[in-house]
Amino acid sequence: MALWLGLLLGLALLGGLIYWLIITTEGVFLGQRLVVWLYDITAHKYDGIKEFDDEAERFFVVRPLRYHLRHLPNPLVLDVATGTGRLPSYLLDEATFNGRVIGLDPARKMLDLAVPKLAPYRGRIMLTQGTAVPLPFPANHFDAVTCLESLEFFPSDTAALREMARVLKPGGVLFVTRRRGKEAKFFLNRYHSREQFENILTNLGLDEVNTQPWQFDYDQVFGKKRMTHDA
Ligand SMILES: C[S@@+](CC[C@H](N)C(=O)[O-])C[C@H]1O[C@@H](n2cnc3c(N)ncnc32)[C@H](O)[C@@H]1O
Repeated sequence: MALWLGLLLGLALLGGLIYWLIITTEGVFLGQRLVVWLYDITAHKYDGIKEFDDEAERFFVVRPLRYHLRHLPNPLVLDVATGTGRLPSYLLDEATFNGRVIGLDPARKMLDLAVPKLAPYRGRIMLTQGTAVPLPFPANHFDAVTCLESLEFFPSDTAALREMARVLKPGGVLFVTRRRGKEAKFFLNRYHSREQFENILTNLGLDEVNTQPWQFDYDQVFGKKRMTHDA
């Protein structure tokens, strides 16, 4: 009896560990290749799971970004971990946005789903396969760099943020998300409190860093690259 109970307990613990490693934290503790592979094999389900609400996306994602870019006639935006093209598609659909967007993601299947969505904006969108570190762009290049709902899945969020700060022009805007809520704590040593996350951005040369509550599991965090910062 004791043997069976022990076996059951062991199996339950193993199941919990596998669930935590693969489902809750999406493979991040097992390496970047697994994370990207998981996104590749589940890409066809991504938009269905997320059920993006057009009005909410325009109000909570496009509007604040447009506000930060309001003085620029043709801004150049980099969307890191663009996935199935969420941010570029909503931003380029905005009539008052006359800029261009580059979307970068390592998961080929996610990018493949972005292609038809972004076809109407040919000439103003470029999709490229790659990871957040290193970013294949020169320093001081973009008016805005965005990264939504992704940092916690990167091998090092700080290294990725450093790269984003590097490619931002002085005065350019960074718009990223910080994982929050109950599940965020399951990312163990990768979890940052609001204060810690803001400090990371400040130390990377960003000013006017501010956090806005967004969804139950994400904050939006904005910052502006310091004019004098040597990236
Ligand atoms: C939750 S999805 C978010 C996609 C999109 N930003 C959105 O909001 O719908 C996370 C994305 O991060 C990408 N990703 C995973 N590891 C990455 C890395 N090391 N560098 C850049 N992107 C990565 C995945 O391929 C996936 O498309």
